[in-house]
Amino acid sequence: LPYLQSSSEVAKHLKEYFAESGDDLPSVFNFGLGLGSLAPGIMAGAVKKNVTQMAKMFITGESPQDALPALKKARKGMITFTADLLGEATLSEKEANNYLNRYLELIDWLARDAKTWENVPQIDEDENGPIPKVNVSVKVTALYSQIDEAAWDQSMAIVKERLRLVFRRAISQDVFINLDMEQYAHKDFLLRAFEELVMEDEFRRYPHFGIVIQAYLRDAVEDVDKLILFARQRGTPFTIRLVKGAYWDFEVVYARQKGWPIPVFLNKKESDASFETCSRRIIDGYPHLRVAIGSHNVRSIAATLAYAKSKNLDPRALEVQMLFGMADAIKRALVRDGYRLREYATIGELIPGMAYLVRRLLENTSNESFL
Ligand code: 2OP
Repeated sequence: LPYLQSSSEVAKHLKEYFAESGDDLPSVFNFGLGLGSLAPGIMAGAVKKNVTQMAKMFITGESPQDALPALKKARKGMITFTADLLGEATLSEKEANNYLNRYLELIDWLARDAKTWENVPQIDEDENGPIPKVNVSVKVTALYSQIDEAAWDQSMAIVKERLRLVFRRAISQDVFINLDMEQYAHKDFLLRAFEELVMEDEFRRYPHFGIVIQAYLRDAVEDVDKLILFARQRGTPFTIRLVKGAYWDFEVVYARQKGWPIPVFLNKKESDASFETCSRRIIDGYPHLRVAIGSHNVRSIAATLAYAKSKNLDPRALEVQMLFGMADAIKRALVRDGYRLREYATIGELIPGMAYLVRRLLENTSNESFL
């Protein structure tokens, strides 16, 4: 959509993409009419309208100010958040710098507002007491436009330099920082950057950092085991957000294109099994580590919670995370059961959010194993 200038281009694209390939139009577009029967103007208008509506479902607001009512409303329903700025894989340093500043502003802005928020024990405390009310998720590829694993040392130095600014700002305002995981190609780099940074003197004693493990990766269990060893060495706990992973289609196509081994499991049940193995190991790693269960899958969540219960883990020592705009009924059930529920809440405009929305579309049109 961002590239298509006229209505007839939108119509042509849609037809080529869906009609001629023999696929059905995704129901999110909801035309109720055959592709051939619509005039380009009507079709393009309907597409734009539906894309915008989809964006509204998954994006909390265009700016932190816009997002605040949604975040506060969720807090009233005992759901807390992790805020993310839409955008990733920046192409220029100007853009990357802009992201860095916007992340710093987001931290300041939310932390300042949070001083007026009432304390809600279910979401603002864990088994040891208060936790940050503000939690921010960072997509590291937004912060540096030239991340290249082949230029490891330079990429690492620059990424760490920028993340230090984010970490410092977060610590000074009592904000939780999570580094998001993205494509497999960056995974080892991001894990290393995280480990090196949180071992630095100024960060080593801060318990409010998090990283992500994607259970759909064949490496996942091994990476969890390494993180457990690392956590013991660090001596201050951090959180692992355990997810299945949102880049499955990309990883499969990309690896095939390059003739590389495919890094993700090809059967969903293998990812599900990996998720359960990882979750048990992370729980066993408590108190050196904490788990944030990032899933909308009832079985995956239930299996993890049941295991935690069987180990007598205090329920406040873990949390469940779900995306803003998804699985609201499951969220309500977990809140009612007293769990800490955190929404991944994206902030930003439609175009920078396009990749995020496409991942949601792929996820929501997959017909495997959902309730
Ligand atoms: C994504 O950006 C939610 O982090 C996940 O798709």
